[in-house]
Amino acid sequence: FRGVIAVDGPSGSGKSSVCRAVARHLGLRYLDTGAMYRAVTWAALDRGVDLTDRPAVAALCRALVLDIATDPGAPGIAVDGVDVTGAIRQSRISESVSAVATNLDVRADLIARQQAILAEEKGTGVVAEGRDITTVVAPEAEVRLLLTADESARIARRARELHGTDDAAALAATHAQVVTRDARDSTVVDFLVAADGVVEIDTSALTFDQVVDAVLDVVAE
Ligand code: ADP
Ligand code: CDP
Repeated sequence: FRGVIAVDGPSGSGKSSVCRAVARHLGLRYLDTGAMYRAVTWAALDRGVDLTDRPAVAALCRALVLDIATDPGAPGIAVDGVDVTGAIRQSRISESVSAVATNLDVRADLIARQQAILAEEKGTGVVAEGRDITTVVAPEAEVRLLLTADESARIARRARELHGTDDAAALAATHAQVVTRDARDSTVVDFLVAADGVVEIDTSALTFDQVVDAVLDVVAE
């Protein structure tokens, strides 16, 4: 495969884990666009920029040097030379990232950067995942997929990932995180309904390996 595989979907639908596995399997690069929104959020918090001050956050974003490693075996991101690969997964970032991602000037800047990365990597082949890849960043992608899953499945997966269990307490602690973030994000991008020509895979009742195989089947078509 050469070209772009574009994958969108809500939190916990399996995008990151599935796309990395697909990229490794096919020998492609991997672009996690969510990591870019998380990195800008990390920088804004680090520098004490008020997230509700949209012009200030956008100006900060435009000035940042973002280095993104697209090796699916070792994805990573650095902001102005500081490796933030681990830091951007903290819950304080997950809780604040939608405020940055709903800033349309931030989106314009990051979308342009994402398109530049895809233009560079599409000769090798690249799997890119996020919320607006199939619709805005790469609507001309060779393969376009929407991963979905029931809210309960997505919350349970995230609970197991963050708390190591999906008991009632873990589900309760995770519920707001997933549901609130998706609700905020979907005010600016529609990742809940497949756009024209986008293949939807409902992963609710599928194992991880089954989802990877389903994606590989679509790519092979
Ligand atoms: P997203 O990037 O869409 O938020 P992730 O890839 O981070 O989703 O997946 C969330 C969690 O669910 C991870 O811990 C992942 O290993 C797990 N996971 C992914 N796909 C499945 C699946 N089909 N069944 C069960 N767990 C899954
Ligand atoms: O892994 P998860 O689905 O939970 O989140 P992520 O992919 O790391 O994305 C983090 C956040 O970045 C999302 O909640 C969105 O606010 C934003 N995002 C976006 O707006 N557009 C994208 N293409 C990717 C992510």
